[in-house]
Amino acid sequence: MLVGFGGHAKSVADCIELEGKYHIVGYTDVKASSDRYRYLGTDDALEAIFAGGITNAVVGIGYMGKGTIRQHLYRKLKDIGFNLPIIIDSSAVVSSSAVIDEGSFIGKGAVVNAEASIGKMTIINTKALVEHECIVEDFAHVAVGAVLCGQVKVGEAAFIGANATIIQCRNVNAGAIIPAGEVVR
Ligand SMILES: CC(C)(COP(=O)(O)OP(=O)(O)OC[C@H]1O[C@@H](n2cnc3c(N)ncnc32)[C@H](O)[C@@H]1OP(=O)(O)O)[C@@H](O)C(=O)NCCC(=O)NCCS
Repeated sequence: MLVGFGGHAKSVADCIELEGKYHIVGYTDVKASSDRYRYLGTDDALEAIFAGGITNAVVGIGYMGKGTIRQHLYRKLKDIGFNLPIIIDSSAVVSSSAVIDEGSFIGKGAVVNAEASIGKMTIINTKALVEHECIVEDFAHVAVGAVLCGQVKVGEAAFIGANATIIQCRNVNAGAIIPAGEVVR
């Protein structure tokens, strides 16, 4: 089941379908918005959905450096008992020595290199590059095409905009927003 079905959810759903490991039974959202998947109700229905035997949940709501909805949903889903699978597109390259925590999404063509550590509920979006020994903390989003050079640390819920580059060994503070195309030296 997908929780939230906006634009980001469509990318996530596509990766899930291409991988074929999970079947998408439907989605929750404030209202029905897709003919492709079954609408299961609002988030108020989550407990009943879990009781009905659906135990895997993937948050489909993206994050652009504002709000705390992904954190809120994480706590709600965990309290109910949901399992939060890691979704990795089959075109992504993830080192065998990288560690990725629950609920995270690694999009098409992304690279997560040796000994990188990816926290829970993070988004490593399409064609993002997370180099060796980077640390991306919980709820952070590395947007499309962004580059983290080696040993960068991205704090909790920080947002690295599209095509931004963070040079090696720099720290990005928790909650920071790095604009699209910015180079952080
Ligand atoms: C940085 C950002 C969050 C600012 O958004 P905002 O708060 O709505 O700000 P505005 O668009 O009103 O811009 C405010 C100022 O910052 C400048 N600015 C905005 N984005 C910028 C960028 N990427 N690089 C340099 N300057 C930027 C604007 O020119 C404007 O300057 P001004 O005050 O001199 O006119 C937004 O521009 C951005 O980069 N978002 C990331 C988008 C992205 O990566 N999407 C990927 C999704 S996967």
